[in-house]
Amino acid sequence: MRTPPIRVLFVCLGNICRSPLAHGVFADVVAQRGLSDVIGVDSAGTGAWHVGNQPDPRSIAVAAQHGIDLTDQRARKVALDDFTRFDLIIGMDESNIRDLNDLAPAKSTARIERYLPYALGVHQDIDDPYYGGDEGFETAYQLIRSASEALVAKLETGDGPRRP
Ligand code: 4NP
Repeated sequence: MRTPPIRVLFVCLGNICRSPLAHGVFADVVAQRGLSDVIGVDSAGTGAWHVGNQPDPRSIAVAAQHGIDLTDQRARKVALDDFTRFDLIIGMDESNIRDLNDLAPAKSTARIERYLPYALGVHQDIDDPYYGGDEGFETAYQLIRSASEALVAKLETGDGPRRP
């Protein structure tokens, strides 16, 4: 019998800067390890301002510099059924985690975690780069790249919500 996929949802505030980058980079690492059939990925925002929009051009640009295409992504808001459709919901910063815990319905089955503490064991946020310069996007990319490698390794070894 085929193992059901582990589904991972990356969440930030707007779903145009950090979580689309996390979605694209994590999916790239998953594909490189040949795990696309067993680890599913999506992203969403806790806010609705940018629903339907492409990722921020600065996220698209930094991802493209590293060989990753984000242009097919469109922003969406976190939905109630995300809390049962996904095994792991990963927020970028502490306020994302607070918002996710507030939104989570009683029947939620998802594990909600902050990215860097969960993947790398470092108690640090991936800060919102929206109001800053391009360097904030490169910093976010580098943190997300390290965390994505570590998270895929964690899921591969069964040290996650479920073994893939
Ligand atoms: P993100 O960045 O949460 O990384 O997508 C933001 C994008 C837009 C806004 C805030 C954060 N905004 O207020 O419109």
